[in-house]
Amino acid sequence: MSRVLIVGSEGQIGTQLSKALSNRDDFDYLFLCDIKDKSRTDLNYFKVDALSYDDLKSFIIDKKINEVYHLAAILSAKGEKDPMRTWNLNMNSLFNILKLAKEGIIEKAFWPSSIAVFGNNNPKNDTPQFSDKEPITSYGISKLAGENWCKYFNTNYGTDIRSIRFPGVISYDALPGGGTTDYAVDIFHSFKSKIRYTCFLDKDTILPMIYIDDAIDGIIKLMRAPKKKLRIQSSYNLYAFSMSPKMIEEELKKIDNGFQVDYVPDYRQAIADSWPNTIDDIYACEDWDWNSKYNFKETTNHMLSKLAIL
Ligand code: SER
Repeated sequence: MSRVLIVGSEGQIGTQLSKALSNRDDFDYLFLCDIKDKSRTDLNYFKVDALSYDDLKSFIIDKKINEVYHLAAILSAKGEKDPMRTWNLNMNSLFNILKLAKEGIIEKAFWPSSIAVFGNNNPKNDTPQFSDKEPITSYGISKLAGENWCKYFNTNYGTDIRSIRFPGVISYDALPGGGTTDYAVDIFHSFKSKIRYTCFLDKDTILPMIYIDDAIDGIIKLMRAPKKKLRIQSSYNLYAFSMSPKMIEEELKKIDNGFQVDYVPDYRQAIADSWPNTIDDIYACEDWDWNSKYNFKETTNHMLSKLAIL
């Protein structure tokens, strides 16, 4: 049985993962932490700064935590406003977890990477697990370095740090904060409020996406997989489906033909253009039985019903 801590519990993935883990009976205790004063949930929440190694260490020892999901990060678009701050938060918070794992205080940890590790020179379609990676954002650089550090610690110190390269995550509960794929969530909220939406990406920009329920399922599957089956020590490619802003617009117009979207691409377009269109996730499929349940259509339908639009 596990005593689990979610670091960054108030974010887009953290909010949903907290709920999912609190509903499972294979976890003894669940603790949440973030830098906010309060949690949006009524779960067991504590304010802890992921950048403070001492605070994190004493909290984890005090609560006898053995499994950590470290989700705190600054995302790709927001990260470009202050690249050094992004590097500092994303890397040093990860180092704290890696060091605690090396010291044997944490037995197992999950840390999300991203399609942002890819850049302009890898194949855009079916982007393989192993290919050139020249990220163009501070976020992507930090995720790529983080992946390599996970592999380094796993290989040299026998730690058990597991990771997934997430596509854009489409969620209904918590909003994403400052990513290049955020439009795919924002557009639903504009639609619900009957507000004309201005999209910061071009209408035909194809990006890989995943529905939040699938993302959570993937995290739990990877964390429950036997360690000996995991061939990837850095971070697993993961794929669900791909879509463009225009595709969502057309879906939403089927419900309300009056919904209007303007396309005004900004600096985020170059980031999106550097990312893959589709992903080859064969290692995740073979090593821990990954298969997505939600395609574009199912994701759209679930978003509409979860946001009480339909
Ligand atoms: N969704 C993230 C972003 O757009 C990618 O990991 O920054």
